[in-house]
Amino acid sequence: MFNSVGDLRRRNQTMQLTPLCGALGAEVSGVDLSQPLDASTAEGIRAAFFEHHVLLFRGQDLSPERQIALTELLGAARPHPLNTRRTVEGHPEVLVLENRPGKRGARNDYWHSDISHMEEPPLASLLHAIEIPTGRGDTMFCNMCAAHDQLSPGLRATLAELRAMHSGEATYRRALEGGTDALRIDPSQVKPPVSHPVVRTLGETGRKALFVNPHFTTEFEGMTREESAPLLQHIYARATAPENVYRHRWAVGDVVMWDNRATMHYAVRDYDESMPRYLHRTTADGERPV
Ligand code: OGA
Ligand code: MN
Repeated sequence: MFNSVGDLRRRNQTMQLTPLCGALGAEVSGVDLSQPLDASTAEGIRAAFFEHHVLLFRGQDLSPERQIALTELLGAARPHPLNTRRTVEGHPEVLVLENRPGKRGARNDYWHSDISHMEEPPLASLLHAIEIPTGRGDTMFCNMCAAHDQLSPGLRATLAELRAMHSGEATYRRALEGGTDALRIDPSQVKPPVSHPVVRTLGETGRKALFVNPHFTTEFEGMTREESAPLLQHIYARATAPENVYRHRWAVGDVVMWDNRATMHYAVRDYDESMPRYLHRTTADGERPV
């Protein structure tokens, strides 16, 4: 593990890390993702990822093959379990996010952790920006480890005992709206809600993270939605407070990878169909939350 930028420089002459803001995230420079990575760069990226939760690489020319290889530094790249969108020809693991005239991009403007309703939700997601409406369609990320640590010891202890239910219903409903790049979802593919611990521990660092989100979490296990809502709202307000958020303004060639265990994200919807936006998305397999 690398403990500081200095350690990284000793191991690898070119890769550098610069924090993106106080909340989370680092920019990685000096790495060309169009080429296979050497072992020390690969390990440097993994270590930085677990430390910073969100990594940004700018100005990258990333083929679907290289995007899959980068994803697999963290876990196997898998097709989306609900086949929510079209994929790149020959690469079912690479989802296409597309907004252009005649094809409105499906909304993602809600705080969420990707596919948290899976029994084993993805550890990481990666987006590669290929076409971006200037200054629009930003993506926000919040730090769920910081949010956990900012709660009172009493509330942390209470939450450590709780589990919450996560459901794919919302994704199914979004696809029913139609008229977007979201594909129809076969209802038989939508699994029953799953239960995950509200506080999860990240194996690599031992840090604890709040693992609930407003899009997929429906209630605490064993409680009603009505009973759960006030405490869930409190958690979301703390998690998404400005000091816990990084807002990424996209440029073509950006590659952003994030840890779904330690963050939520939100796609700002301040563009319309007339403003083309096109990204490739992959996810790396994760484990059952503990
Ligand atoms: C996603 C997602 C955000 C964006 O692909 O999982 O939430 O800004 N995308 O498109
Ligand atoms: Mn998402």
